[in-house]
Amino acid sequence: MRTKGLFILCSFFIFFSLSACGSGSKEDSAGTIGIAMPSKALERWEKDGDFMIERLQEKGYKTDIQYAQDDVPTQISQIENMITKGVDVIVIASIDGEALTDVIEKAKGQDIPIVAYDRLIMNTDGVDYYATFDNYQVGVYQGSYIVETLALENHEGPFHIELFGGAPDDNNARFFYEGAMSILQPYIDSGQLIVKSGQTAFNQIAIQNWDGAAAQARMDNVLSASYTELTIDAVLAPNDAIALGVVSSLKGVGYGSTERSMPIITGQDAEAASIKSILSDEQTMTVFKNTQDLANIAATMVDQLMKEEPVETNDTETYNNNSKLVPTYLLEPIVVDKENYQEQIIDSGYLTEADIR
Ligand code: BGC
Repeated sequence: MRTKGLFILCSFFIFFSLSACGSGSKEDSAGTIGIAMPSKALERWEKDGDFMIERLQEKGYKTDIQYAQDDVPTQISQIENMITKGVDVIVIASIDGEALTDVIEKAKGQDIPIVAYDRLIMNTDGVDYYATFDNYQVGVYQGSYIVETLALENHEGPFHIELFGGAPDDNNARFFYEGAMSILQPYIDSGQLIVKSGQTAFNQIAIQNWDGAAAQARMDNVLSASYTELTIDAVLAPNDAIALGVVSSLKGVGYGSTERSMPIITGQDAEAASIKSILSDEQTMTVFKNTQDLANIAATMVDQLMKEEPVETNDTETYNNNSKLVPTYLLEPIVVDKENYQEQIIDSGYLTEADIR
């Protein structure tokens, strides 16, 4: 009796351990994908992360996602951990595109492919692919919106404008700046646009970490130094976080009232708080980059890498990271303002009515 019971118990044990082992190896064979994100400070990165997990899990992969609170050493050690754990591919939205050379070399040493997500990783040939929006175009859209709204092509003006740039260590920030300046500079040169602060160089206008509070502080300084007697007509803000910092500063000195309307203020990311601000006539526009589409592209790249299939790209000429031309899939951004937010942001399901009320 006892022997028979033991035999049955053992058979059960063997059966379950084998089947557990079987399903384990099946899951393992699909692979684990590391996802390194910059921070949760911005709504967009949480959306990016959630969509990436969703898309990769649909394709049968396990995910290991880490956020680094905008701290470079934290991001480096998170990526090191992923390498140690032996993930199969790492997708990275870098904080500082120039700070990952060594850790990417380690990944390369372990044959772990790297997909740069939204931001290019510089100075290493260990980056295999890049998925992003057309960053230069984002700036072109912001600059063009200002030019069109002020009717500068009809020789209107002069108007007063101030310029803001993104984080100096984010490779995208210069693309946004250069795109916008390609449109604005001719009007600054002709005198139709006046930058009263005199601050037009990227390093004078850049905002560390894309921090809204720092943008607010800079705007406070500019307003008190140059605009006590003058009215400001436009502000080039490279993203929504900076735009909202600028809005707060302007409100503090009476803009956004019946006597003094807000200047044109650009943005980027279509964050819920900025759509609300646009609906209240504070921020004027945002450039929408559908992070669902970006996650889709990046997850497809990962899947193609894992299956050793050709990876789909549509730009192999633009993104030189000082070490190689990184094959890229570029997506098109979309201008959003009060006129089309319903169709682009709500009807598309990107945000809900509840998110923006
Ligand atoms: C992204 C923007 C974002 C900014 C701040 C940039 O690299 O492309 O969408 O607003 O970083 O996180």
